Amino acid sequence: MKFLFINGVNLNMTGRREKGVYGTQTLEEINRDIAAHFKGDECHFFQSNIEGEICTAIHTADCDAIILNAGAFTHYSYAIRDAISSVDIPVVEVHMSNVHARDEFRHTSVISAVCNGVVAGFGKNSYILAAESFKL
Ligand code: DQA
Repeated sequence: MKFLFINGVNLNMTGRREKGVYGTQTLEEINRDIAAHFKGDECHFFQSNIEGEICTAIHTADCDAIILNAGAFTHYSYAIRDAISSVDIPVVEVHMSNVHARDEFRHTSVISAVCNGVVAGFGKNSYILAAESFKL
């Protein structure tokens, strides 16, 4: 299968920010582990801190499934929600942390309703579990 893993705002700081929440591995290291797990599949990775670039990545995606950690955009970006609704590709929302056990504002996702599913709380394995769901 062909997967596109999209990471949004501040995810480039993974491994350097809030290590107790997001762990000590960098995003590059996490992506390398994901690619190793799915070695029989095609994995593409994109990260941006810019909302519109995430929308464009979704619009132009050429893959079987998108695994999206939109970061804080999850909680308020109607633009990303509409971008997801604009394409026929299935999208799974992921979070490394259990957003429901954290601040109140993280309990709201404006994208969940237009995603195929949500995986949260399993660190880097949230990405792997989300993508694995398409292989069952
Ligand atoms: C996050 C959770 C979001 O609330 C937060 O803004 C992030 C990361 C996660 O992976 O747990 O940047 O999406």
